[in-house]
Amino acid sequence: MSFCVYVLQEREIRSLSAEIESLKNPQSLSPSPRLDELRDENTKLKYRLNILKRVTSKKEKRKEESTTHCGKSMMNINLRLQEIFGEAIRASCPELDNPPLSVAPNQQAKFGDYQCNSAMAMAQVRLPTKGMKINPREIAEKIIQNLPDNELIQKAEIAGPGFINIHLKRTIVSKLLSNLLINGVQPPPLASRKKVVVDFSSPNIAKEMHVGHLRSTIIGESMSRLFEFLGYDVVRLNHVGDWGTQFGMLIAHLQDKFPDYRTSSPPIGDLQAFYKESKKRFDEEEDFKKRAYQCVVRLQSKEPDFIKGWNLICDVSRREFQKVYDCLDIQIVERGESFYQDMMTKVVKEFEEKGLVELDEGRKIVFAPGQSIPLTVVKSDGGYTYDTSDLAALHHRLFTEKADIIIYVTDSGQATHFQVVFAAAQMIGWYNPQVTRVEHAGFGVVLGEDKKKFKTRSGDTVRLMDLLEEGLKRSMDKLKEKERDKVLTPEELTKAQRSVAFGCIKYADLSHNRINDYVFSFDKMLDDRGNTAAYLLYAFTRIRSIARLANIDEATLRKAAETSEVLLDHEKEWKLGKCILRFPEILQKILDDLLLHTLCDYLYELATTFTEFYDSCYCVEKDRQTGEVVKINMWRMLLCEATAAIMAKCFDILGINPVGRM
Ligand code: ARG
Repeated sequence: MSFCVYVLQEREIRSLSAEIESLKNPQSLSPSPRLDELRDENTKLKYRLNILKRVTSKKEKRKEESTTHCGKSMMNINLRLQEIFGEAIRASCPELDNPPLSVAPNQQAKFGDYQCNSAMAMAQVRLPTKGMKINPREIAEKIIQNLPDNELIQKAEIAGPGFINIHLKRTIVSKLLSNLLINGVQPPPLASRKKVVVDFSSPNIAKEMHVGHLRSTIIGESMSRLFEFLGYDVVRLNHVGDWGTQFGMLIAHLQDKFPDYRTSSPPIGDLQAFYKESKKRFDEEEDFKKRAYQCVVRLQSKEPDFIKGWNLICDVSRREFQKVYDCLDIQIVERGESFYQDMMTKVVKEFEEKGLVELDEGRKIVFAPGQSIPLTVVKSDGGYTYDTSDLAALHHRLFTEKADIIIYVTDSGQATHFQVVFAAAQMIGWYNPQVTRVEHAGFGVVLGEDKKKFKTRSGDTVRLMDLLEEGLKRSMDKLKEKERDKVLTPEELTKAQRSVAFGCIKYADLSHNRINDYVFSFDKMLDDRGNTAAYLLYAFTRIRSIARLANIDEATLRKAAETSEVLLDHEKEWKLGKCILRFPEILQKILDDLLLHTLCDYLYELATTFTEFYDSCYCVEKDRQTGEVVKINMWRMLLCEATAAIMAKCFDILGINPVGRM
């Protein structure tokens, strides 16, 4: 994005320079009363040009720093290769304005480490449209000739119809691994600190938090962690549904059932049951219904007793939600629909003043360009809706929070709602999508093992706490099955139980493409083979134990990282080294598409690549008879360490908490 801005400014500079040139040339100006005006204009333009030049040169400098001199940051090798190839491609085909740039890791190692396929795309699509016909191999050759001096590429060669296979320099890969070991896992450089709002979890007060909210909670937490690691300023918002007409009947029922609720907290143990009772009365008792409506009005006019009742009900719900958050270690700030109550009035007014509101059978509706469904901003009874509160929330996030990125994590069923809200906000001029990123990150439904909507056997919705407790039970069964209870202390055992149970539930969700529906299966997620948290957690403890069993302490490893080279002569060492260094490009991809399963796939690939390495490269050599350590291959210990460091960071972003022993 910053690159786009930079290009625009370049263009602006050029046109401004041209304008200034023409102003400098006295022949171009016939003596007229406009002369002074133009001179004035000229000074202003010069001033603006200087500012732009300064900004551009700063950006240029920063760009340089961001790639070649990464400081403590990890280098994004793919991005750096794109820069290098981008330069070569532009030099090879200056007639193309926006040449296709495609660099990706090579799947088959024997063909090289990365591959650039731009020549093919240029020959097939881009150049013919310009009336040119060139063989892609010829273009590829030109690109290779034009490669600028760089620190990364050992050699680049053409293969097949015009692929370019890229071989990385061993020395730089080794150096980058040493940097990683010395500096720890540092995020790639960030051009400027940006603010992100992540709206997630967001259950509804007085209703049960369901599996859809569980998905939102897990995905939103992980996205927030990713942005935090990358250096963004993250605001995690729980947009709870706490301001609907249902509160009228809840409060009316509260008044009857616990008449002294103003002075002592009523023991509403089961809010669900309480909700059901009040709903039943609402449907059956005419008087009750009338009173419920009056309660809504009195609540909305903020009468203290009604606010008190409303707060009580919210508190009971909050305590329930918190239990889930505590288990899953979720950090989130509640800012529910009620928070936007006053702002909704202003928002509706703004739409009305701009002539964007239509009346429809007493409702006030807003049509946004390209959207067939309107938003209902005011109901016929004068009340506001989910649409109104989301408009107000978006306004607040844009103008008060001043967020650069706003993400909503809910089920895909709400995609249209958000699409219309975003379109309406753009229509009224609140934001420009080229500048501010506002996005709905939708996800599919949770299915049971029968591939039907996730339900209990009796057909009820599954209570989240029950689900988490079952996870705990199952994970303990697994640990006992492996007789871990005989090796671990009771404390270690409980820690391992929680880590496995909650880690597995999160990982099962995150490792599937969020767009798809996903089948919830404890058996699958707790299996310690395959792409599961159970497997990865075990793999991680095993890697961590290699150094411990060889009696190498942290200080020794740190010293080794500084003094000894990470050798990469063995094919499996080379493969592992490169895999470790792909971490920044994985993060970059997720930043673009917000699909976290890529991180899980990468983590799994890293663990299996490590196993391949460990199976064929001795790290510690022991005497067969005595079992005594006879030789330590320190550079391999460093590869173990670097793998573990990246794995730990992946777990951290996924919200999974590995334990020392399990
Ligand atoms: N409370 C809503 C639900 O349970 C989700 C809210 C999502 N966030 C938002 N800003 N609309 O479906």
